[in-house]
Amino acid sequence: MTDRRKIIDGKALSEKIRGALKVKASAYESANKRKAGLAVILVGEDPASQIYVRNKIKACEEVGIRSFAHYLPKEAKKEDIIGLVETLNADKSVDGLLVQLPLPDKNDENEILKHVSPLKDVDGFHAVNAGNLLLGNACLAACTPSGVIELIKSTGAEISGKHAVVIGRSNIVGKPVAMLLLQENATVTICHSKTENLKEITKTADILVAAVGKKEFVTADMVKDGAIVIDVGMNRDDGKLYGDVKFDEVSEKASFITPVPGGVGPMTITMLLSNTIKAAERGSN
Ligand code: GUN
Repeated sequence: MTDRRKIIDGKALSEKIRGALKVKASAYESANKRKAGLAVILVGEDPASQIYVRNKIKACEEVGIRSFAHYLPKEAKKEDIIGLVETLNADKSVDGLLVQLPLPDKNDENEILKHVSPLKDVDGFHAVNAGNLLLGNACLAACTPSGVIELIKSTGAEISGKHAVVIGRSNIVGKPVAMLLLQENATVTICHSKTENLKEITKTADILVAAVGKKEFVTADMVKDGAIVIDVGMNRDDGKLYGDVKFDEVSEKASFITPVPGGVGPMTITMLLSNTIKAAERGSN
C-alpha cells in the first residue's frame, strides 16, 4: 500500500487555490463594476472537448468569472474562426480568450492561435507568451505546466539546484514546463522519443515530469529513490483513465507522486482561472 502522505492531492490543492481566486474575482468585480470574463471557442463536437469546455464554464461560475461560450459547427472555415477571435479580442467584457484544441482541421491551429491577442491568451499558447516565458519575462504561462509547478511547490521540497527531468517536448506541456522549472533554478533535462539511454537519465532525476502520452510508460526501474514524480498523462483505455506512470510500483520509490485522476488534471482549469484573473488585473482591453 502506498503511504497516502506521499500522494499529492491535486483536487485539494485546486480547491485551495480556487478559494483564493474567488476573493480576487470578487475584488476585481467591486473595483471594475463588472466580472472578469473568459471566452471559450469550441469548433465541432469532439466529445472530450465538449466535456473540457463544460468544466471550464462551470469552474468560471464557481469562482465568479463571467463566461462566454461560442460554439461553431465543425464545417466552420478558418476565416470564420479568426473573425470570431478578432471580435472577442475587441470585446471589452472579455479578459481571457481560448480556442479549444484540437480543431477539426489540425492544420488550421497555428494560424488561428496567432490571432488571439497575447494579452488575452490565457492558454499561453501564443508565440509572444511562449517567447516571454523563454526569456523569463512576465507572461501568461500555459496552464498545465503552471499547475505542475504548483503541485511540486505544495510538497515543500526545494526545486532550486535539483535535477528535473521532463519526458516529452510538446509545445503545450514539455517545453513550457521545462522553462518554468528552469525559472525555479532547477537543472533541467528534456527527454523525448529519440532520447538514447532514457532510463539512465530519468534515474538521475530528483523531479520527474512524465508528459509522454503513453499509458504507464514510466516504471519503477526508471525512477530514483525519493524522487518527486508528476504524472501529466491522460490515457484512456477501455473507458478507464491511466497516467504515463505505473503508479503502484513507482509510488513505492517516490517521495511524492501525483495520482491519475486527481493529480495534474484538476490543476489545469484552476490555472486557467488564475490566468483569466491575471489578464483582467493587468488589463487586456
Ligand atoms: N485541449 C487539451 N488541453 C487543452 C488546453 O489546455 N487548452 C486548449 N485550448 N485546448 C486543450
